[in-house]
Amino acid sequence: MDTHHQHAGDMDPEEFRRLGKQVVDWIADYLNDASKYPVLSRVKPGDIRAQLPAVPPTQAEPMQNVLTDFERVVLPGITHWNHPGFFAYFAITGSAPGILGEMLASALNVNGMLWRTSPAVTELEEVVLDWLRQMLGLPGSFKGVITDTASVSSLVALAAARESIQRTIREEGLAGRTDLPRLRMYCSDQTHSSIEKAAIVLGIGQQGVRKIPSDHAFRMRADLLESAIREDRKNGWLPFCVTATVGTTSTTSIDPVRAIAEICRREALWLHVDGAYGGVAGIVPELRSALDGCELADSFVVNPHKWLFTPIDCSCLYTRHVDVLTQAFSLVPEYLRTAEQGVTNYMDWGVQLGRRFRSLKLWFVIRSFGVEGLAERIRNHCRLAADLAARVDREPGFERLAPVPFSVVCFRCHPAGIDDEAALETLNTRILNAVNESGDVFLSHTKLNGRYAIRIAIGNLRSRQEHIDRAWDLIRHHARALEPH
Ligand SMILES: Cc1ncc(COP(=O)(O)O)c(C=O)c1O
Repeated sequence: MDTHHQHAGDMDPEEFRRLGKQVVDWIADYLNDASKYPVLSRVKPGDIRAQLPAVPPTQAEPMQNVLTDFERVVLPGITHWNHPGFFAYFAITGSAPGILGEMLASALNVNGMLWRTSPAVTELEEVVLDWLRQMLGLPGSFKGVITDTASVSSLVALAAARESIQRTIREEGLAGRTDLPRLRMYCSDQTHSSIEKAAIVLGIGQQGVRKIPSDHAFRMRADLLESAIREDRKNGWLPFCVTATVGTTSTTSIDPVRAIAEICRREALWLHVDGAYGGVAGIVPELRSALDGCELADSFVVNPHKWLFTPIDCSCLYTRHVDVLTQAFSLVPEYLRTAEQGVTNYMDWGVQLGRRFRSLKLWFVIRSFGVEGLAERIRNHCRLAADLAARVDREPGFERLAPVPFSVVCFRCHPAGIDDEAALETLNTRILNAVNESGDVFLSHTKLNGRYAIRIAIGNLRSRQEHIDRAWDLIRHHARALEPH
């Protein structure tokens, strides 16, 4: 009998053991020194595809060849999010404890759709989410579920918000109804695009999203929210939901959640809070006030895969209204009926049936670093960002473009005598491109009130002062070289 029959068609366990050790060794070396690779991949579009056969192998290949190709073909096409010089978007970390959790979750390969399809998946998820809730200082009435991303968490939350208005939308849909005014939801002009996408998916439509202007510090203007809701009601809209953000995507600004919550209470609207990035700041005692008012939210999302050192993907959605959430989503066919009473069947909490064992890696991360260890790591990122912001402020010819509540700094090179926005954008784009070509750091950009901003997001565990120094040196060097003289 060949080995495939002996091992039910899978790899020989001894070969797995040998290759597994080799892979773990590779990961350990990688985590130890990801900076030996250029942080931003240097391949051109199509380069990777051109090296891959267009048709699949007919015959089995030795795994060793596959691993060789991983290094030879795949790795050059990787932009290294684990590189300490990764400062683009929101920098993240695949921490070692999180990777171990992810490996074991893959090995178990359980599907946590029902309590009985793995009781530990459901119960660990409930407990770890309750730990995180306590770590953030949110009330015990908040119950959670893990999804893949904040986009999906918010979609699920906004579906619950839509369900909460009790207009039989679940049964009858939205289209062609004369008994139902058009629904309206609110967010700010700084809100992440996932909220608008959710509106598209939920049949609210982009016109059903009203973006409230933000103030000089990119926070939603609560006074304008209130007048917008009043105006909409007068014009026949049916307002149902407001999304506030703790840590907006461009500048990490914090909306006035308490004031917004008060308006939502008066107007009987669902309050969803997007804390995808900034929510974890609640773990740090001196930053806890950033979550002021979040205890009044109807739903709240925070992503451990952003700033809590948990490998992507892992997003936590909390709500005070599990009954509404399950009313929106529970649909149990005969073949999924189970007899257990008083258990959570997470398939009733969202769109997907099959669910990965994501709480395992989060449990590993929280236990391995401890709450104080996590707080210290987040605090350190904020310290590094505050120090960088101070350096930007001191540097002639540079201008900071937003306050720094957490660990992201937005700024631009603004030489004396150049005030044309298009010229400043060209200059700063060139600086950014030159810096990113170095391979040492990777930064991204945004636009703030029409002004092009270079953005440094500190969020990787391995980013230290020296890596920020390198980014800042490169920026000043290229600014000097590119500035018109
Ligand atoms: C504030 C905010 N919300 C939501 C998201 C979307 O996150 P995800 O990629 O988990 O869907 C982001 C992404 O950066 C974000 O910054």
